[in-house]
Amino acid sequence: MQIDIMTLFPNVFTEILGTSILGKAQKSGLLTINTVDIRDFSKDKHRSVDEPPYGGGGGMVLGPQAVFDAVESVKKEESEVILLTPQGKPFNQELAYGLSKIEHIILICGHYEGVDERIREHLAAKEISIGDYVLTGGEAAALVLTDAVARLVPGVLGNVESASQDSFSMGLLEYPQYTRPADYRGVEVPEVLLSGNHGEIDSFRKKESLRNTLKRRADLFNNYHFSETDLELIREVIKEEMERGSE
Ligand code: ADE
Repeated sequence: MQIDIMTLFPNVFTEILGTSILGKAQKSGLLTINTVDIRDFSKDKHRSVDEPPYGGGGGMVLGPQAVFDAVESVKKEESEVILLTPQGKPFNQELAYGLSKIEHIILICGHYEGVDERIREHLAAKEISIGDYVLTGGEAAALVLTDAVARLVPGVLGNVESASQDSFSMGLLEYPQYTRPADYRGVEVPEVLLSGNHGEIDSFRKKESLRNTLKRRADLFNNYHFSETDLELIREVIKEEMERGSE
């Protein structure tokens, strides 16, 4: 997969995306992540790319010419062009999965007070927001999206199971994890995890996933399909939580 990021601040990306898992994936050729400096496409001798908006009002708007030219310098027929904006579709794990199947993604980071409407209407096929808050620019959003998408590209995570067990990947939050020592400051690892009984371990993990989701993000259950076993487990969880609550 290839991701090209159109930005006014290309330096921001190098360190984070070149490190650790994504750095390794790029070295091994599974991923190519490039940044394109929008200013390189300015026709202005000061390399400026923003203009005050027609009709007045405060602030500056990112104009169309340099952004169109930057995108067109890398665009192929199969490319998906995405504008990062607080007005976009809320980003989530499902969107990340969909994007991880695309061969070439072009991300446009907005800046200033906004971007010219023609970028939104005629250049970007999708608009994505990473949350209901406003950032100073799309760079942090592009980093979030790139990280979440790239780790789902087959082979990027060493262990195939790592992504399939993620929070959200099965519609639930993840179960708690423990490592050595079995007793740390008097807090013990749940015994079942030391038992070696994989059936019981799976059931424990499912139950704790359900418990985590119930306690922290019960809204996720609206889109979750409960199996018979899940229903039994969630009944136990509710009973235990009520007992704990009344202690
Ligand atoms: N640019 C500014 N705020 C943003 C947000 N919440 N998501 C994506 N891009 C943005």
